[in-house]
Amino acid sequence: MIATVRPARRLQGEVRVPGDKSISHRALILGSIADGDSHFRGLSTGADVNSTASCMSALGVDIDGAAVRGVGMRGLRAAANALDCGNSGTTMRLLAGLLSAQAFASELRGDESLSTRPMDRVVTPLREMGAGAQWPPLLVGGRLPLHGIEYRPAVPSAQVKSAVLLAGLFAEGATAVFEPVATRNHTELMLSAMGAKVTVDGRRVEVRPADRLVPIDMEVPGDLSSASFWLVASGLIRGSRLRIPNVSINPTRSALIDLLRISGMTIDVDGARSVSGEPVGDLEVGTAEELRPVSVDGTMAAEMIDELPVLAVAASQIAGTSHITGARELRVKESDRIAAMADGLSAMGADITAVDDGWVVKGPRHLEGARVRSHRDHRIAMALAVAGLLADGTTEIEDAECVEISYPGFFDQLESLC
Ligand code: S3P
Repeated sequence: MIATVRPARRLQGEVRVPGDKSISHRALILGSIADGDSHFRGLSTGADVNSTASCMSALGVDIDGAAVRGVGMRGLRAAANALDCGNSGTTMRLLAGLLSAQAFASELRGDESLSTRPMDRVVTPLREMGAGAQWPPLLVGGRLPLHGIEYRPAVPSAQVKSAVLLAGLFAEGATAVFEPVATRNHTELMLSAMGAKVTVDGRRVEVRPADRLVPIDMEVPGDLSSASFWLVASGLIRGSRLRIPNVSINPTRSALIDLLRISGMTIDVDGARSVSGEPVGDLEVGTAEELRPVSVDGTMAAEMIDELPVLAVAASQIAGTSHITGARELRVKESDRIAAMADGLSAMGADITAVDDGWVVKGPRHLEGARVRSHRDHRIAMALAVAGLLADGTTEIEDAECVEISYPGFFDQLESLC
């Protein structure tokens, strides 16, 4: 599908974003091994989370909308076939951890993009724990017992951390991950809420073996990574004012808000509250008067890794030179996001240079609509759609149906807001 985006006059009103993708994956996975039924309202309806749900069903778990009938820590059974993780790295890496600790072996497969993404980063620590694990193809499990390790990942990754912690629930002794940069902590929060023994000390997270997890009821907040497209669009399009209610403002996810504020945007967070242990608030953003160039280094890049494509769009409209670096990980996401954004934004007239680990962007440059490639990557499609709102003329985005991965209905919402 080709999505057509026309220049926006201004964005006004209220926009609701889908349930947080990271929290939704963890809800389905941890709910599946709890002792009894958990209920999750507001789960992401995106294709990635559906991949996790169908993998859990294939492992013998009954998932009925918001209800997950947990089978207990020892209740999963071998799937009849290889598990299909679709496009979802989170599904593949988190399940690699969980399934490495089962008595049966599992094979995890993905689509063309996922099949080329690095899985050695989960295989290495799981093998260190004594698990059967190999890649490619990704085969895990069937060799017990596992023993706890103290793991220091070379790259900051919440998926790797979560995989090791999930395996650690089944291992002998304590399992700890010491991260180079603190990454999203949804696994730790949910495990604690379900009664597991989790200790957090700065960037070190430790989990102890668990006999059972207590089922939970939870309302999944909106996804700040999805909201980031509206924050940038509204901040840049004159006369805009958007309210985005019920969004996760977990500090391990909200670095983009801080950066946009430093750059000069006014983003208000109202009604900050804790919903099922996750910090939530209502966001309000208007058009910024003047923005300063942004500077992102390695630590910050890891904290806002999913928001960097749309940040590059913002940088193209800011006077001065923005440096977004330390983000080599973008090369191994659903697409090579460094190349994909440099191609798309250059085609629209931006002054953007891809470097090894990010971009140098000089602004402001007037954007012109063009036909651009999403590379079948949801965040590239949505970031280029925001660029299309700022451009003159019509922007056509190829393979735009990929937004279904995290944000079903994104283009309909965009049209109704403009
Ligand atoms: C995620 C972690 C991040 C992020 C991804 C979701 C998660 O990946 O990019 O969209 O839910 O744990 P990495 O762990 O590879 O950094």
